[in-house]
Amino acid sequence: MLSAKFLVALLAAPGAFGATNWIVPGAAWYDTAGKKIDAHGGGIVKRGNTFYWLGQSVSNNIAPQMYSSTDLLNWENLGVQASITQLWRPKYAKPNGEYWIFGQQDRYADSLVSSSLVGGYTQHAKVYLPPSSYSYSDTGMFYDDSTETWYLLTSADHNVVQVNAINSDGSVGTRASHSQSSAGAYEAPGMFKAGGVYFLIVSGKTGWRANPNKVFTASSINGPWSGGSDIAPENENTYNSQNTFELTVSGSQATTYIYMGDEWDSSGGASSNYTWLPMSVNTGAKTVTLQYYSMWKVDPNTGVVSTPSSSAKYPASVASVSGRAAISTRSIVSLSPGDEITFSNVTATGGTQWVKLLYDVRNREDGEVHLFVNNEPKATNIAALNSRAGYALEVPVALKLNEGSENTVTLSATGREGFAVQVKGIEVVEN
Ligand code: GLA
Repeated sequence: MLSAKFLVALLAAPGAFGATNWIVPGAAWYDTAGKKIDAHGGGIVKRGNTFYWLGQSVSNNIAPQMYSSTDLLNWENLGVQASITQLWRPKYAKPNGEYWIFGQQDRYADSLVSSSLVGGYTQHAKVYLPPSSYSYSDTGMFYDDSTETWYLLTSADHNVVQVNAINSDGSVGTRASHSQSSAGAYEAPGMFKAGGVYFLIVSGKTGWRANPNKVFTASSINGPWSGGSDIAPENENTYNSQNTFELTVSGSQATTYIYMGDEWDSSGGASSNYTWLPMSVNTGAKTVTLQYYSMWKVDPNTGVVSTPSSSAKYPASVASVSGRAAISTRSIVSLSPGDEITFSNVTATGGTQWVKLLYDVRNREDGEVHLFVNNEPKATNIAALNSRAGYALEVPVALKLNEGSENTVTLSATGREGFAVQVKGIEVVEN
C-alpha cells in the first residue's frame, strides 16, 4: 500500500503528470522523469534539432549534468557528464573535432574533453589565463559564428570580465578583450551578438542574492566595451535572478534572444529555480530589456514567442472568505494571518493544469501564503511551487485538478501581525 507521505510527494510533483507546455519563470521545472531539473549556472547548444542544456548539479556535488530537448520545454536528463565535482558554471565548447566543457574549479578555469557530445568527459587542464596571478570565478561561453571562434568568458579578481579565445587545440589563448575595471565589479558573464553588436550581460557581485544585471556592448569582440545599463527595472533585481547564458533561437519567422538566469535560493541549493525570458534587443540604442511574462514559450522552428491565449477567471468577489478577511474593495480581498479565501466550482480538464494566483503582499518577510487544493491533506507554501511568490503579482503554479467543475482552491495567510495578502483572484490557464 502507498503511504500517505508518498501520496503527498506524488501530488507535489506536477511534472510526473504530463508534458510541460510553458516556460514559467521561477516555477519548479520538472524533467521528463518527473524530477526537478538540476542544471544551474548552465548554458545551451543546439545540434540538429536538439538542444543540450549543461549545468551544475546541486544533487551531485556540483558535477556537470546534461539534459536534452527539442522544444525547450520538456527536458530529458542525460546524466552527469564526468566524474568531477565542484565544477561551477560548466559550459560546452567545440573548438576542434573534440567536445569540451569549461568551468571553474577551486578558483581556476578548468577544461574537460570527450570524444562525444554526451558523456565520457575527463579532465584536461587547469587553464591559466593572462595575467596568471588572477584567480577566477564565474565562467561563461560565447560562439562567434562570423569567425567560428569560441570565447571563454571569465570574471576574475580585480573586477575584470575577460574574453579569451579558445585555441584549436582546446587551450585558452589570446585575450580578445576585457571589460573596464572602473565600471564596477561584475560576474556571471554571458554574451550574444545581434545586428553586428556584441552584447555582454553580467551580474553584480552579491553572492546568492539577486541584483540588477547589466549589459555592456561593443562593435568588436576586441572591445572597447561601453554601457552598464540595467536589463530590467532596477527594483526587480533582474526578477530575482542572476545571468548565466544567452541563447539565440533563429527561426523561420523571427530571431528570439533568450536570457537564461538562475533564481537561486539562499545558498544556491536544490530549491533554486530558473528564470528564462525573451529579450527585447535594440541594436541602434544598444540596449537590452527583459520581456517579463509569467508564462511563455518560443517555437524553436519559427522563433516566435507566444503566451497562453485564454484562461477562466475567478475574481475574489465570487470567493468565500473565513476569518477576519474583509472585502476591502469590490475586487480585492485582504487576508491577515489566519484568514482564508476559497474559490469553489473551479473548472478543469483533469490532470496537471497551470493556475495563475493573483495577489500582492505587504511585509513579505513576515509571512507566507499557503495553498490547499480540493481535499489535499496538506497545505503547500506557494513559494515551494514558484519562487516568484510574494514578488510578482501573477504567480502561475502547476496544480493537479479533477476533471469537471467541482474543484476548490483555497489560499491562506500565515505569519506575523502586519503581514497582509491582497487577493484579486485566480485564473485557470487552458491546456
Ligand atoms: C555568485 C556566483 C555564483 C556563486 C555565488 C556564491 O552568485 O555567480 O556562481 O559562486 O556567488 O556566493
